[in-house]
Amino acid sequence: MKFDTPAGQNPIDQLKVVGKPTDRIDGKYKTTGTAPYAYERHDVVANQAYGYVLGAGIAKGRVRRIDTAEAKRAPGVVAIVTTLDTPKLGLGKMNAANLFGGDQIQHYHQAIAVVVAETFEQARAAAYLVAVEYAPEAGQFDLAAQAGSAKPVGGGSGEGSGSGPEDRHGDFEGAFAQAPVKLDETYTTPDESHAMMEPHATIAAWEGDKLTLWTSNQMIAWGKGSVAKILSLKPENVRLDSPYVGGGFGGKLFVRADAVLAALGAKAAGRPVKVALTRPLIANNTTHRPATIQRVRIGATPDGRITAIAHESLSGNVPEGRPETAVDQTKLLYAGANRLTGMKLARLDLPEGNAMRAPGEAPGLMALEIAMDEMAERLNLDPVEFRVRNDTQVDPGKPERPFSHRNLIGCMKLGAERFGWAKRNPKPGQVRDGQWLVGLGMAAGFRNNMLTKSGARVRLGRDGLVTVETDMTDIGTGSYTIIAQTAAEMMGVPLDRVVVRLGDSDFPASAGSGGQWGANNSTAGVYAACVKLREDIAQRLGINSADAVFADGQVRAGNRAVPLAEAAASGDLTGEDFIEYGDLSKKQQQSTFAGHFVEVGVDADTAEIRVRRMLAVCASGRILNPKSARSQVIGGMTMGVGGALMEELAVDTKRGFFVNHDLAGYEVPVHADIPHQEVVFLDEVDPTTSPMKAKGVGELGICGVGAAIANAVYNATGVRVRDYPITLEKHFEKLPRVA
Ligand code: MOS
Repeated sequence: MKFDTPAGQNPIDQLKVVGKPTDRIDGKYKTTGTAPYAYERHDVVANQAYGYVLGAGIAKGRVRRIDTAEAKRAPGVVAIVTTLDTPKLGLGKMNAANLFGGDQIQHYHQAIAVVVAETFEQARAAAYLVAVEYAPEAGQFDLAAQAGSAKPVGGGSGEGSGSGPEDRHGDFEGAFAQAPVKLDETYTTPDESHAMMEPHATIAAWEGDKLTLWTSNQMIAWGKGSVAKILSLKPENVRLDSPYVGGGFGGKLFVRADAVLAALGAKAAGRPVKVALTRPLIANNTTHRPATIQRVRIGATPDGRITAIAHESLSGNVPEGRPETAVDQTKLLYAGANRLTGMKLARLDLPEGNAMRAPGEAPGLMALEIAMDEMAERLNLDPVEFRVRNDTQVDPGKPERPFSHRNLIGCMKLGAERFGWAKRNPKPGQVRDGQWLVGLGMAAGFRNNMLTKSGARVRLGRDGLVTVETDMTDIGTGSYTIIAQTAAEMMGVPLDRVVVRLGDSDFPASAGSGGQWGANNSTAGVYAACVKLREDIAQRLGINSADAVFADGQVRAGNRAVPLAEAAASGDLTGEDFIEYGDLSKKQQQSTFAGHFVEVGVDADTAEIRVRRMLAVCASGRILNPKSARSQVIGGMTMGVGGALMEELAVDTKRGFFVNHDLAGYEVPVHADIPHQEVVFLDEVDPTTSPMKAKGVGELGICGVGAAIANAVYNATGVRVRDYPITLEKHFEKLPRVA
């Protein structure tokens, strides 16, 4: 089905099942431990051995020699594959650093061997007996120190945001010089780790040339193509299966060392092999969100109209790596005739930087939305009012291009009302509650909506059960449930008459999970397949499909009503199709919007920061399942608390690795850090996005929330911290004196 004109009325608009707050249909499996994750697929293939990955102990240089003699004699060892036995492998989709093969080391903990043994403990013990001789070289590990050598580059995040090396509209420098009120500040964000609960893990089994990987991956079709490319196999000989994913956050968009080394280990061992990356390898062997140094300049008239806005970002990466696209939202969020955005990329020899939850917008808004708060203060304007005055209904760089639907003002106004924003004291450092300095902060949230082709197959069985098959993944997001809701709505059956099967590359290729594109696109693909199936059913029953109404387990036309199952009486009926898109999203800018509001307390004695209340008001098109959408948004807000206050991969700038490579040293919020969180969805539909009239919402929760926290901290203390995470030593000595 080609979607190239705005959606009219369709069966989804009935909202009998879609749009209802619905418990996850996979919830019972998750909560009873019966949803098997990749490493736990004990029953899919017999005789599984264990692989343990050894990472390089240097950050840059060459592996001179690997001596495996002693390791091979260790108890239980079945096989060892080293990087020196293997030619340098090709890169898969979105991979920048080598995963394996050859003698060159590009980053610390790059995989250099996999040891396969009868048990995990035997594999690990033997791995430490592998003797490696390196020829190390000096590397560059310090982003700030490399600022001078960084080059202007364009690039995309792989998730929709992208920029040229420098994009200009009007005359930024001239307008900024003349602006009566202006700001020129620099903000920094650190390297961050996905720190998902489920590590990267794969079980690999060969049958001749055919390879099956039971793995944990967000993008099955990408993964299948990448594995084929990396291992020089025919794509039809590769199968990936990933029905449950315990978090990915962008770290599992692509194939990583677990999949490649499980496959190579299984080949060498002549039997199936399972590999999980250890926690330290997740920080240094896989990818991370790269650190940024961002300069924001804003010029405005005394009444608060932006006349000039510039956002420039510096990040670093391995040679094939892309820049962090932190400036992208600044092209679209606020009005202003004179604009400049630019990105620079420094060559670093740290592990590969790549997509992490809302790549680009999440760190970009952490800078831009503090800058907006600082400007509002200089203008003596309320931060909400300053943003309202600079709202735009068109792409400011291409005014002929409107937003398809934009209600940022509605988000901010409703948020202000519900949060009690009017009670905020605009003068910082004034409000006390016992030991606590109390502050309120807000920020705008913004993330683009992406359209991408997505397929599905829907089958009606003789028993009347509707089975949906697509390679779409559920990475904790609720895909199973919204896909079931879509099929139930389309076929006119209750939710418990729908079976959803996901994550298998033998199923039709879907949009996959990333860039908050999963929900709208994958359900639109299911919609398209259901339309096909409905036509087939109507035809079998001798009903004109335009007149057929699918409801209550029946197909009705005129005064005829036939049980749905009857259409499949002589055999299962299957509808398969995909949604693909015309140029609606080129003619109109599709984006999602939020108003984030936060209250913090800062301990007047110790400078400790506690988040006390959070509210997000979101405008994201139709919400398919308010319950799972809320879970997504509060998950993003929680990750935003981490980004604002805790998360930072500490770089050893001498040896070139992330030091705090476990969950003891890399701090993420726990339940005790998270206060009352409220999420409100504005009631809206966007007919330009798909027949579902929905948009992405999963990543909107993290976009802007970090700055709202930073702004609340400033309002509490009067001390502005522009260097994330805002840890207490960054403002402790400047806090108001305690009497
Ligand atoms: Mo992306 S960071 O997988 O949504």
